[in-house]
Amino acid sequence: MRSLIDIADLSVEEIDGLIATAEDIIANPDKYAEKCRRRKLATLFYEPSTRTRLSFESAMLELGGQVIGFSEAQSSSASKGESVADTARVISCFADIIAMRHPMEGAPRVAAMNASIPVINAGDGGHNHPTQTLTDLLTIKREKGRLDHMTVGCCGDLKFGRTVHSLLGAMSRYEGVDFVLISPEELKVPEHVRADILNASGVQYRETESLLEAMPQLDILYMTRVQRERFISEADYVRLKDTYILTPDKLTNAKPDLSILHPLPRVNEISVAIDADPRACYFKQVLNGKFIRMALILMLLEVQ
Ligand code: NCD
Repeated sequence: MRSLIDIADLSVEEIDGLIATAEDIIANPDKYAEKCRRRKLATLFYEPSTRTRLSFESAMLELGGQVIGFSEAQSSSASKGESVADTARVISCFADIIAMRHPMEGAPRVAAMNASIPVINAGDGGHNHPTQTLTDLLTIKREKGRLDHMTVGCCGDLKFGRTVHSLLGAMSRYEGVDFVLISPEELKVPEHVRADILNASGVQYRETESLLEAMPQLDILYMTRVQRERFISEADYVRLKDTYILTPDKLTNAKPDLSILHPLPRVNEISVAIDADPRACYFKQVLNGKFIRMALILMLLEVQ
């Protein structure tokens, strides 16, 4: 039995396989409509979510399965003091697979160690978000036709932004990928990402504070929100939140086939004036999130 806690839990071949399954689901949805009949997904969300939770739920429903769960810690027994380990054991009695989001780094791993069913990390604190990365990879594959030989710019909160950490972990394994990491000094990637992903893989990367300077090189621009909920000081958040605001004039020197991604929710960092630009991919990305989660559920439940 397998869980997905970190994107490194999947080999490149497995990631490519999930993308191929998702593309087949997009082409032949009827073939998959009954694959998870009588199976249940439990969504255990201890932190706010719109896309991730509802895309997991709609993924399971479109596979013919059913969904149970909670969307806030307050309405679960966590508010009475139950541990994640005990909750994981309990939910194993009711469901076939768990998707868990938790503010504490490592909580889904604790759940996986105690559950008797697969656990999917749907975001743990400022750490990882592997299913957002699968979503991002499917989007890049569909936009560009490949996942190798490209320059990926990640812009914004690279310190607390868990989606960036997982994306770097995945894309650093594809040939010919290099990164431009665009952030203010205080929001640079954390040391564990630098050591365990960037330096360990030997991937090419450079850091800059200037989005404009980086723009002409980029094939992918991955914008992120400054993660207010992870700041200790509100004043620091207020000072940093609008460091980058992508407006149409900033795209003047961008490649014509740039793809602009954002895991969403967006706050101010992409002007709505960009939405109509054909290079804006963030709403397509949302839809891809459902298809790749369908593929992942099938894989972890070992449904043929
Ligand atoms: C992201 C997350 O939760 O980390 N959202 C998502 O799952 N699409 C990004 C964010 O909240 O900024």
